[in-house]
Amino acid sequence: MKIKKAIFPVGGLGTRFLPATKSMPKEMLPIVDKPLIQYAVEEAANAGIEQFIFVTSRGKSAIENHFDHSFELENNLLSKGKRQTLKTAQEMLKIPGSFAYVRQQEPAGLGHAVWCARHLIGDEPVAIILADDLIYGGNTIKEMIANYNSGNMLAVMDVDKKDVSSYGVISPGNSNNNNITEILGLVEKPTTENAPSNMAVVGRYIIEPAVFDVLEQQNRGASNEIQLTDAIASRIGASNCVGYKFSEERFDCGSKLGFIQANIRFSIERPEMKQNLKNWLKSEIVSDD
Ligand code: UTP
Repeated sequence: MKIKKAIFPVGGLGTRFLPATKSMPKEMLPIVDKPLIQYAVEEAANAGIEQFIFVTSRGKSAIENHFDHSFELENNLLSKGKRQTLKTAQEMLKIPGSFAYVRQQEPAGLGHAVWCARHLIGDEPVAIILADDLIYGGNTIKEMIANYNSGNMLAVMDVDKKDVSSYGVISPGNSNNNNITEILGLVEKPTTENAPSNMAVVGRYIIEPAVFDVLEQQNRGASNEIQLTDAIASRIGASNCVGYKFSEERFDCGSKLGFIQANIRFSIERPEMKQNLKNWLKSEIVSDD
């Protein structure tokens, strides 16, 4: 089934990155030289997404500006003949009208953010991508779309049992050999003791339109927020619900450690930085011993 629209919820406060995120959106934090949100948009475009819907909030206008022209910068680069740099400054521009922005007026949770986009989604399934879950390789949502038939599909991965309370956790059923696992139950931020497994949901989803009807009820869950996973969980039994066990490497860039790891991982792949970075890392590790 062709999925044409993707929602990018970017309305959160990013408090784990204060003070950096006091006046700058978390999703604009760079991995090497590219903001998180650009990686997310590139992953969506790579999957054939044509309409990019951002759920923003106050203080997030840098995201809109990032996906627009910057005439002063572009004219300056043009006049200096810096064509390659100019190309880099323009590579995030998409067909006019393919980006839409809607405001979440208060950070009432991921489910609430997704619900804020409801009028921009028709009676069709939609992809959801969280920019702070950065996936190296950028093919996961494409693979999910290729495997999607109906209902709800969530990207899942095994995490350490001690970390389950940071995630939505599934109760897995049968698996097939395409990395698809049936989801029998889903609980947001369980305690270690109550977690049904150590298979956690990460920030790639395909949801059916009926999830918006559930979100409409505005039920609050963990952290007193309107949780997307709760809305999806309430559809289990009524429609298909599956986990997609992706194989690409994922970085939790909502946490400081994941963000630093992603920067190192992505830098090491850059030919111009690779050797110097490796040498420096080795010397740092040796001097730490
Ligand atoms: P997080 O819970 O990781 O982001 O939400 P946060 O709340 O911004 O960060 P901390 O915990 O305070 O550091 C995951 C994604 O969902 C979006 C966030 O912007 C982030 O991209 N989100 C979260 C919303 O759009 N609205 C919300 O109300 C909550």
